[in-house]
Amino acid sequence: MTRWRHDGVLITGGTGSLGRALVPALLAAGVPRLAIYSRGEHAQVAMQGDLENDPRLRFFIGDVRDRERLRRAMAGVDVLIHAAALKHVTTCEYNPREAVLTNVVGAQNIVDAAIDAGVRCVLIVSTDKAVQPENFYGATKMCAEKIFVQGNAYAGDGPTRLAAVRYGNVVGSRGSVVEVWRKQRASGRISITDPSATRFWISLEQAAGFVLSCADRMQGGEVFVPKLPATTVADLARAVAPDCVWDLSGLRAGEKLHEILISANETGAVWDLGDRYAILTPFATWAAWKNPPWEGAIRCSPGLRIASDIADRVPEEVLEAWGRA
Ligand SMILES: NC(=O)c1ccc[n+]([C@@H]2O[C@H](COP(=O)([O-])OP(=O)(O)OC[C@H]3O[C@@H](n4cnc5c(N)ncnc54)[C@H](OP(=O)(O)O)[C@@H]3O)[C@@H](O)[C@H]2O)c1
Repeated sequence: MTRWRHDGVLITGGTGSLGRALVPALLAAGVPRLAIYSRGEHAQVAMQGDLENDPRLRFFIGDVRDRERLRRAMAGVDVLIHAAALKHVTTCEYNPREAVLTNVVGAQNIVDAAIDAGVRCVLIVSTDKAVQPENFYGATKMCAEKIFVQGNAYAGDGPTRLAAVRYGNVVGSRGSVVEVWRKQRASGRISITDPSATRFWISLEQAAGFVLSCADRMQGGEVFVPKLPATTVADLARAVAPDCVWDLSGLRAGEKLHEILISANETGAVWDLGDRYAILTPFATWAAWKNPPWEGAIRCSPGLRIASDIADRVPEEVLEAWGRA
């Protein structure tokens, strides 16, 4: 669906971990214009310098809570990747109002402004925590996912199509447990919630590649889910911080023992596209949603459940590589 060499692209949250991986990839793909939208001035200036003031970049200071600013930023945009969010479970638990305003109201603002501006392809980055959410972060991301998918109905006959990508924890992203352990390991002690908990993992490069390939393939109304391996927290800790003493705290408020990428109760049909799944909600825009346009797509049996306690394990050599990083 996308033609990067001709498309103007906007990334909300473009200065974050994912944005930092997406931006060089998009510049390398030849985008003519790439806008970053976020609040922090310092992060934008630093990024501008790191990318040697590439003339294709535009930096918009703005909050996703601000509709007027979003409307201005979307002029001339063909593809929008919505990555801005409050993403820490504990932060959202403690500041529910702020989480709603940024993650839920912000998502609705993006959808409304994108439809009004005629942005063609609009993709939100979601999380496994949005599936059967136990914490406030997950609940806000579930709302945001649904706001996006349902946005197709409001786009009507206009050019805008909206979809979501949903994946697990990103290795080494800002504030991730791997980043925390890498900082702590020199001290000989690391903090661990529950060693038996399991999580899905994806690298930043894989996440960026996945998002861009979904922007290419989306028709409107899908939730794309990559096929990801998982680890126990214990195995990950042994790889990233071997020989360290564990300070055990127990799961934090709202944390699950195991995560779910696709629940057996997802509304809609799940299709296997080889390297990923596409969940087609009843709000998928294309008339032929029972016969999707992706070559080789196979419809999964109803009740498919993808959970981190039963998923394939992250291969040993990959764990070792994360440990060395
Ligand atoms: N990291 C993970 O493990 C993971 C896993 C699954 C899904 N996700 C999702 O992936 C997306 C990107 O995650 P990330 O790891 O790149 O996050 P991140 O590193 O924390 O970056 C968040 C970005 O959003 C911006 N932002 C925050 N609040 C904003 C607001 N109100 N208005 C405008 N911009 C705002 C931040 O910049 P300012 O603070 O300067 O505004 C920053 O650029 C998020 O939607 C997250 O839910 C992340």
